Amino acid sequence: MRVLIFGCGYVGIPLGAELVRQGHEVFGVRRSADADAALTAAGIHPLVADITQPGDLAKLPGPFDWVVNCASSSRGGPEEFRTVFLNGTRNLIEWLAATPPKKFVFTSSTSVYGQTDGLPVKETASTNPASETGKVLVEAEKLLLAAAQQKKFPAVILRVAGIYGPERGHLFQQYLRDEARLEGKGERHINMIHVDDLVGVLLAALKSGRPGEIYNAVDDEPVTQLNFFRWLSEALGKWMPESAAEDQLGDRKRARTNKKVQNRRLKMELGYQFKHPTFRQGYTSEMIRLERAGQLDVKPEAR
Ligand SMILES: NC(=O)c1ccc[n+]([C@@H]2O[C@H](COP(=O)([O-])OP(=O)(O)OC[C@H]3O[C@@H](n4cnc5c(N)ncnc54)[C@H](OP(=O)(O)O)[C@@H]3O)[C@@H](O)[C@H]2O)c1
Repeated sequence: MRVLIFGCGYVGIPLGAELVRQGHEVFGVRRSADADAALTAAGIHPLVADITQPGDLAKLPGPFDWVVNCASSSRGGPEEFRTVFLNGTRNLIEWLAATPPKKFVFTSSTSVYGQTDGLPVKETASTNPASETGKVLVEAEKLLLAAAQQKKFPAVILRVAGIYGPERGHLFQQYLRDEARLEGKGERHINMIHVDDLVGVLLAALKSGRPGEIYNAVDDEPVTQLNFFRWLSEALGKWMPESAAEDQLGDRKRARTNKKVQNRRLKMELGYQFKHPTFRQGYTSEMIRLERAGQLDVKPEAR
């Protein structure tokens, strides 16, 4: 297959490398040539384009059999988010209308679920997020689902949980730096997926995902913050983080959700089997990697 990956970054590069390994011809898009060497080293043909610029898309060397959009807003604010996810999605649908791919996969986010009751959440659950960024993603998903319904655009949506792996995993990194804080009693659930599994899920979605369908890309075990830090604390022999009072959470409080995102559809329909079914396996391999690289310098904090 000729495969095009928009936003060929943390997830796109290992995805492209795996597709190349499986014999596909892979092109990776970013907004500048700065990462060309990293893409080329992975066997990916680097292309420069910005999905928010229709003129850039028109110059890409199509057609493509499979297209993945995993561009991110690179920590931009709501405006940047809207431009990349909403205008970008609209541009891609329009650009691909003349020669639709066999499959188009979009990496949305579990942030589209605004639930706060800590109960299980399936793909059929309502999507009323309080966060602006979540609202934009719901709109982008609607564009893709509408296009898929017209049978002209084979869009598959992955609602991706918090990605962790080498150099990623916000809470883990904060914990290693002694900067982690429990939110209140730590009862809120965290939903995660290891980058290796996200690559596997993307491949499964390209091969077997049903157009117009949504799949939660999350591992088997949503975990409360408290239990996550308890496990890390035991594994690393380090103190538990202290609690941050509710009023210290600032902006984070408003958009805070609490839900246990379920992955049954992913496993049943796509037959996906996790390499790291829970954070325990994923973070154990991450700790081993850091230890072997001489980068796991854990000193129990003085209390
Ligand atoms: N991180 C998470 O926990 C998480 C959770 C849920 C969903 N997701 C989604 O998962 C996807 C993959 O995430 P990731 O961690 O691989 O992101 P990433 O490392 O930031 O990679 C995305 C790449 O997109 C490129 N990009 C940004 N704007 C672009 C544009 N307008 N046109 C073309 N390329 C553009 C950036 O490269 P240049 O700056 O060089 O252009 C960047 O390297 C993203 O869609 C993200 O929103 C992430």
